[in-house]
Amino acid sequence: MLQIPLRKLDRLTPEPTALDPHEVASRDEIRALQRERLAWSLRHAYENVPHYRAKFDAAGVRPDSFKNLEDLAKFPFTIKTDLRDNYPFGMFAVPETKVARIHASSGTTGKPTVVGYTKRDIDTWSDVVARSIRAAGGRPGMKVHIAYGYGLFTGGLGAHYGAERLGCTVIPISGGMTERQVQLINDFKPEVIMVTPSYMLAILDEFRKQGLDPRKSSLRIGIFGAEPWTNAMREEIEEAFDLHAVDIYGLSEVMGPGVASECVETKDGLHIWEDHFYPEVINPVTGEVLPDGEKGELVFTSLTKEAMPVIRYRTRDLTRLLPGTARSLRRMEKVTGRSDDMMIVRGVNVFPTQIEEKLLAIHDLSLHYQLVLTRDGRMDNIEIQVEARPDASFPAREAATKQLALSVKDTIGITALVTVLDPGSIERSVGKAKRVIDKRPKE
Ligand code: DLL
Repeated sequence: MLQIPLRKLDRLTPEPTALDPHEVASRDEIRALQRERLAWSLRHAYENVPHYRAKFDAAGVRPDSFKNLEDLAKFPFTIKTDLRDNYPFGMFAVPETKVARIHASSGTTGKPTVVGYTKRDIDTWSDVVARSIRAAGGRPGMKVHIAYGYGLFTGGLGAHYGAERLGCTVIPISGGMTERQVQLINDFKPEVIMVTPSYMLAILDEFRKQGLDPRKSSLRIGIFGAEPWTNAMREEIEEAFDLHAVDIYGLSEVMGPGVASECVETKDGLHIWEDHFYPEVINPVTGEVLPDGEKGELVFTSLTKEAMPVIRYRTRDLTRLLPGTARSLRRMEKVTGRSDDMMIVRGVNVFPTQIEEKLLAIHDLSLHYQLVLTRDGRMDNIEIQVEARPDASFPAREAATKQLALSVKDTIGITALVTVLDPGSIERSVGKAKRVIDKRPKE
């Protein structure tokens, strides 16, 4: 028997909606479909994108070198710089006049990464996001408050089209203006919210600031993604709002949100919409494909994308593939880190989410934190800056400081300086949170 705590959703008894046949197809059927679609996608990329043609030729492979799913391993990887090097439209496989939409992610330096969609791609994207919202418990007729940013970022518009496709009422508020977010949640009474988990925390603070009980809000389902977040954070948000919090994953290069999503009835990792995105997990150092169950870097090949097919795109996200549960499509374990986010502190590999888990276990600390890295001669130092909860007394803050340092030392194995700050001291993000401030000199 599934043990899901009763939340507002359970009192709603939603109408079940028929699942897409691919979500429940047998493994054999899925593999056959993937083989057929991969053959098309490899050919489409080779014939229409000079970059892929050159890469395949250099690796000595042709689209017809692909016969079975295992043959994909012979094809070269694609990395983010390939997209940058072909800025702006060099990776497109269709004439520009067939491109219905362009998105881009700014990145930290230089040129943005540009992605394009045909009308049919937008349709596919809407379908997979609709599927994701339904997996989260969303149903036609529900109101969906979308606080992912609208614009070149794929979050807002991706969620928007999916919610519309499912038959929901969309509230396209975008990120920011937190006071107004709370006012509109109270007045419009949406059942579903789609937002980054870190911005959800800012919304939570605003509820409390306005003297409102978040548990009494209309929200029953939160669909959170675009950044790593832990199961400990899930419990916090679920308790605070009395809602179901589920994870949605995606990246612009592959599509946007809705590449994989969690089912509310199991909350056990994200089902990959494998009929459109073919996953592999590789050893990030050697590039070797790892068997399901082993952790490594996630790689995707698009199966149906027209405007910008991606072949073996290295996401830098670390996870492992698991068998399906609530759907027959495989799952990926919650992504708790990207290889880019890994900090090496005095030789120990640490991800911000490992620290998040530790600080969430301490009652008097809030969920707002930042990690500051500095270098002292040859030694790396890490400072955990975390806000106290508003009701924490001075002695409680002192005790929490010691407790966190001790638990980080005991379980992660690093010595960290812990600084507990007053509530409100850490800058709030309206989208993806910036967790790590690296002040170490660049090598
Ligand atoms: O963040 C797309 C998205 C929007 C996903 C809204 C979910 C919800 P990018 O800006 O290209 O696209 O960033 C992609 O964000 O490679 C991961 O490192 C991270 N990421 C996305 N979803 C999750 C998640 C969007 N659920 C990058 N858990 C990815 C952990 C995530 N990391």
